[in-house]
Amino acid sequence: MTENIAQNQKHLWWKNAVVYQIYPKSFQDSDGDGVGDIRGIISRLDYLKELGVDAVWISPMYCSPQNDNGYDISDYQDIDPMFGTLSDMDELIAESGKRGIRIIMDLVLNHTSDEHRWFEEAKKGKDNPYHDYYVWRDGEEGVYPNDMKAVFGGSAWEWVPELGQYYFHQFAPEQPDLNWENPKVRREIYDMILWWMDRGVGGFRLDVIDQIAKEPDRGITNNGPRLHEFLRELSKETFQKGNLITVGEAWGATTEIAKKYSAPDGSEFSMVFQFEHMMLDQQDGKEKWDLAPLPFVQLKKCLARWQDALFQKGWNSLFWNNHDLPRIVSRWGNDGRYRVESAKMLAAVLHGMQGTPYIYQGEELGMTNVKFSDISKYRDVETTNMYYERIEAGYAKADVMRSIYAKSRDNARTPMQWSKEPNAGFTKGTPWIAVNPNYAEINVEEERKDPDSVYQFYRSLIRLRKEYPVFVDGKFELLLPEDEHIFAYTRTDKDTQMLVCANFTEETVSCPLLRQWGSAGVLIHNYAGKLGEELKPFEVVILVARR
Ligand code: GLC
Repeated sequence: MTENIAQNQKHLWWKNAVVYQIYPKSFQDSDGDGVGDIRGIISRLDYLKELGVDAVWISPMYCSPQNDNGYDISDYQDIDPMFGTLSDMDELIAESGKRGIRIIMDLVLNHTSDEHRWFEEAKKGKDNPYHDYYVWRDGEEGVYPNDMKAVFGGSAWEWVPELGQYYFHQFAPEQPDLNWENPKVRREIYDMILWWMDRGVGGFRLDVIDQIAKEPDRGITNNGPRLHEFLRELSKETFQKGNLITVGEAWGATTEIAKKYSAPDGSEFSMVFQFEHMMLDQQDGKEKWDLAPLPFVQLKKCLARWQDALFQKGWNSLFWNNHDLPRIVSRWGNDGRYRVESAKMLAAVLHGMQGTPYIYQGEELGMTNVKFSDISKYRDVETTNMYYERIEAGYAKADVMRSIYAKSRDNARTPMQWSKEPNAGFTKGTPWIAVNPNYAEINVEEERKDPDSVYQFYRSLIRLRKEYPVFVDGKFELLLPEDEHIFAYTRTDKDTQMLVCANFTEETVSCPLLRQWGSAGVLIHNYAGKLGEELKPFEVVILVARR
């Protein structure tokens, strides 16, 4: 074990941290151009401090032509003018630091933008020193090297006539994949990361990191044979030189793989985002747009399996939302009559588990999905590509829109709802994407005043995590695994036991656990009045007892 790993182990600050995710385009605009920016974020740091979060992960703000909202980077070492300048970024890091908040940058290392200097060079000729920074195959126009598909539609191969070659892209054609087999690419990346670490960054989220070790000739996209070799080198050359939080996005992670990523020796990352619990409501082997009913018992079992598998062998991230996922209250909760109750219930169930919780902007208000009537109001490349592909393939418009209402990434990307003012106080200009019309009821200003709001509930949960070590260390045990309504589990450490007990449905149900736990103290509860032996719609309670 290197000295740096040993040092990291002593300071695992991120185990009791709560992280907040900002999607910068939609958080706060300061200059009236309709797009959120760094000065806007700085102006809201006091809000984040009041909420109580320890770190903020910000989706990419590097220079980018914005084909995929910044996940197509054209310069890793500069800030896109749309968001501000490098000195704004330095100020953000400093101002956050003053409030005890660390900044987590989003690193997109699988691909760059096709406008990145490396790619522009790479296209100039096969003997250009940057050519081998990307993944090329010789070929003939119209005859693809193989039938691999890109995530955002179409072939994963794009023809460059001047070279007589195809390049590989797992996402849009404007996002060419980097060639991690090339040690020069890896060195460039490490130097860039060290440069950000020198500027005081507190951690990194690693975009689609399980796809870097691709082997397109064998049809391999994620979990390639060299993946963990690359990650250990990356971690050793960079992250282990600091006291950082690192979280890899890994759609292809199983519990076994996640143990490698988040091994307690710190050799790879702090943790990963895995998505098993997020993919349960889609049809097997189909696309996310092909909706399936919500399997509640499977959800519990899936989360429990991750809790058990990683206990003392790794570390979980805990999340319901991010910038790619629909709003949780519209998905597993109820965004009508029980919006407030169900938003709180989902929060308590998540924050009660072992791992580091992530709150996506607006989740702490119980923000909901949006239903724009027309595709022209949608901005996301994945959504619009799918719409036109499916309409062309003969799907009915109403069905396509139903999938969009349930799953479009734009559900998460409508502007943050700050107040009742026009455009929810997000911008004085025209927002790049329309605000959700429900902002008059759901907004920060109202919820800060209301002691029973979703926002105040999140603040309490964050506070409890800091007060009760059992939130961080306690062993998880799922109770009533087959129950169709109740999600209940305990967390146990040497002197405390905690029960999290939630009703995931609109029905009132009797709950045997509540009598057994009758004498325990209530840590948090989403209904006023005394706890009975029944759970009301979406009721949740966390109880604590000394052992
Ligand atoms: C990740 C990001 C997503 C992006 C994709 C390609 O999944 O979260 O927003 O489109 O990677 O970079």
